[in-house]
Amino acid sequence: MTSTGCKRTLLENFTEVLTAVGNQAVVGDATIQRFCPGSIAIEDGMIVDVGPPDQVLARSGQFDERIDMTGKSAIPGMIDPHTHLVFAGDRCEEFNRRLHGATYVDIAKAGGGIKSTVRATRAATQLQLEQRGIQVLNQMLMQGVTTIEAKSGYGLDHATEIKQLDAMRSLSQKHPVEMVQTFMGAHEIPAEFEGRPADYIDYLNQDLLPEVKARGDVTYVDIFCERGVFELEDSRRHLERACELGFGVRLHADELVHMGGSGLAAEVGAISADHLVYADRKDMERMAEAGVMATLLPGTSFFLRGNYADAKAFREAGCAIALSTDFNPGSSHTCSQSLMMALGCMNLGMTFEQSFVGVTLNAAAAIQQAHRLGTLEVGKSADIAILDTHNPLFLVYNWGINHVEHVMKAGNWVVKNRLPVQAA
Ligand code: NIG
Ligand code: FE
Repeated sequence: MTSTGCKRTLLENFTEVLTAVGNQAVVGDATIQRFCPGSIAIEDGMIVDVGPPDQVLARSGQFDERIDMTGKSAIPGMIDPHTHLVFAGDRCEEFNRRLHGATYVDIAKAGGGIKSTVRATRAATQLQLEQRGIQVLNQMLMQGVTTIEAKSGYGLDHATEIKQLDAMRSLSQKHPVEMVQTFMGAHEIPAEFEGRPADYIDYLNQDLLPEVKARGDVTYVDIFCERGVFELEDSRRHLERACELGFGVRLHADELVHMGGSGLAAEVGAISADHLVYADRKDMERMAEAGVMATLLPGTSFFLRGNYADAKAFREAGCAIALSTDFNPGSSHTCSQSLMMALGCMNLGMTFEQSFVGVTLNAAAAIQQAHRLGTLEVGKSADIAILDTHNPLFLVYNWGINHVEHVMKAGNWVVKNRLPVQAA
């Protein structure tokens, strides 16, 4: 990887530099800064200046390297705050069955769905999981994503959950995409506990959570709080135990039916509640009051041909909104955050600016990193996606195209001319 080290680098004359402003989640419309043209000065992995080119040059003096970016635009490295990064196998045949009329729930009931990925993941070695993970991380990086949240949850037993966490730890050490890790042992009820979700939660609470906490590398605990999977009472017990142990908590909530998972998110002080297609107004208000991020996953609605979350209602209730791919092999097999922006604009009723904040500043806040990531401002990490277009609106306006040409993570070039600089 080419490092800028302690060098002072100037990326100058972008036709546009686009960023939100701030260090925390934004409710409603964020302050957006557009420098047309704009330059970004970088030193020691950090942004040390940003603004109109002449002003940056005048303020920031000498540079070891100056790179002309005329015709291109710059946005913050995107953040994907909800991914199921590590798993084995794929479900493309199952997807085709859905195209022929089967539903996601039919397939799950017939032993497919999450359970089929669990079987494949149990059978895989850690190395195999990592090899697949690297491919996905490279795809993310090439699409301008520099930081993700990643979950376990395709093991559902001790050995495989730990294997997934080990694979994630190793990937986070060797791949430039920054990762925060989440334990999601409560992603589904494993075959061994069929019909006994409460017993499985007891097992997770007593045996796995303390061990996972002791690793020191897992920040969050997540649960699939949904009718027929983990109901409110079991979810509450699991999340309360996770809080007791010092984890932050997040939920898959109200995805398929309204069950009140979003209200529970507020009750337990979750960092984020995700999906939220069937959240009701009262629970949205509770989330807003408790400061729970509403992370919307329009790729899942698109791919399952389901309903979309009501972004406008969340905004009116006072919630900050982040967008994520929910990258996983079943319900949303994509890692394109620009596609989520397009779905956000076209199907969630968001403006371009709101969708942009949803994959940058608010996505950073959804993983508690808004103080150092998510905007192009002095003092933040130099995580920059450089687009091949003069106007970042092309991310949505010219949808289905990857406009990301170069990517910098913490001042290092990690994608150049659309390819990862260093195969991890
Ligand atoms: O977030 N809802 C549960 N979990 C995933 C789906 C995982 C899968 O189908 O493998 C989700 O949509
Ligand atoms: Fe998910």
